[in-house]
Amino acid sequence: MAKETWISDALSGALTEQEVTLKGWVKRTRSSGKICFVTIRDSTGSIQCVAKAGNLEDEQLDALKSAIIESSIILSGTVKEDQRSGGYELAVSGVEVIGPVNPDSPFPITESAMEAADGGETEFLLDNRHLYLRTSRMTTMLKIRSSVFGAIHSYFRNLDFTEYQAPCFVAGAVEGGSTLFEVPYFGRKAYLTQSWQLYAEAAMPALERLYTIAPSFRAEKSRTRRHLTEFWHAEMEIAWGGNEDVMAHGEALVRHICKTLLEERSEELESLGRDLDLIRRYADNPFPRIRYDEAIERLQALGVDIEWGQDLDYSKEKILTQDFEVPHFLTHYPRIAKPFYHRPDPEDSKYVLCHDLLAPEGYGEIIGGGERTWSEEEILERIDEEGTPREPYEFYIDVRRYGGVPHGGFGLGVDRVVSWLAGAEHIREVIPFPRDSRRVTP
Ligand code: 4AD
Ligand code: MG
Repeated sequence: MAKETWISDALSGALTEQEVTLKGWVKRTRSSGKICFVTIRDSTGSIQCVAKAGNLEDEQLDALKSAIIESSIILSGTVKEDQRSGGYELAVSGVEVIGPVNPDSPFPITESAMEAADGGETEFLLDNRHLYLRTSRMTTMLKIRSSVFGAIHSYFRNLDFTEYQAPCFVAGAVEGGSTLFEVPYFGRKAYLTQSWQLYAEAAMPALERLYTIAPSFRAEKSRTRRHLTEFWHAEMEIAWGGNEDVMAHGEALVRHICKTLLEERSEELESLGRDLDLIRRYADNPFPRIRYDEAIERLQALGVDIEWGQDLDYSKEKILTQDFEVPHFLTHYPRIAKPFYHRPDPEDSKYVLCHDLLAPEGYGEIIGGGERTWSEEEILERIDEEGTPREPYEFYIDVRRYGGVPHGGFGLGVDRVVSWLAGAEHIREVIPFPRDSRRVTP
């Protein structure tokens, strides 16, 4: 019985002249008379397979000839060095078509449909997302994405953080009411969580160093290249730490993600046309910090219409980050621009001790975080000045009555980070089934 192997192993050179069995899907096929060339792929690569009459039964050759693109197939044969290309191919001696594709409805994601879409953006490709997933571009994105998730877990676990889960059904906003998803909840109203943070703060006195990677939800009506309604949120919270400590983790995490991608996914990044020198630069250099006030001055000097006190939306961040060589932290936003949980700066309470991390190349915000308001008195003042009802936050206020300590944390948009590092045009390109205001299918 021939050895079952991944295509990448057959291509490695280590199995030359050996009998192997490959399982995969037909990527390309061409036959003339008594010879059939089929390229098959699995998740590790693709290989040309050559079937010649005489080397296998006629019935099997006919079965192979009739297997059209995306049919699933098991081929056995001998791995041969292909003299012309310097690569490897399979000399086929056995064929089993497992899941044939009906020739009356061939695989709809053709190369021309892909070219027309240029990055997965047409409605046709979004409607056929379940099939689009197996194209090489999407598969590449999914592998890069998986490495980013792995890097986040390894960063926090290496530092003895505890992975901790918060509920998705919640009673109140974290990031303001305008992007809350309301859901009927047995005669009451509930919301889908915007962030794990408030529930992590409750566990901070128990576990001190916490993290998660979980979906967060935002009812973002506008469709932009960086907004999803359901996105993957990596969040962390630490006891006994302030804005600077949290920023140090954010910076170290992002650089660790870059290093991990260089180790694990250089080939994939290059296949997307990504310049690895850029990723190396992000991995190796410190991220500067600038205060909000300075960013506003820079923008105003560039003729941008913005006033002190406004939050920076995407259009402003894009202008600001276009010339950044590496990610930059923006710190000390005005108190009026940020939600109640941000701690006012004891040196000047017009500001809060917070930060956003802005990615270069025009990508903008990938992290939002800071120090938390941690005394009962101060949190009540902040909630009241915001005009937010206290009731949904009783548990949050209560935590501050029993041994409050300085603490802080951040949230990193995982899809945004993947989009930036993969050089995607749109955040939808890097998530298997994107959700936005117009789409919940497939
Ligand atoms: O800046 P945000 O709103 O901060 C929070 O939610 C804090 N409670 C996090 C914390 O301190 N634990 O969101 C954090 C990050 C943003 O920087 C962005 O990267 C991402 O989450 N994000 C989105 N990503 C995709 N689609 C959206 N609609 C997003 N909204 C936020
Ligand atoms: Mg933010």
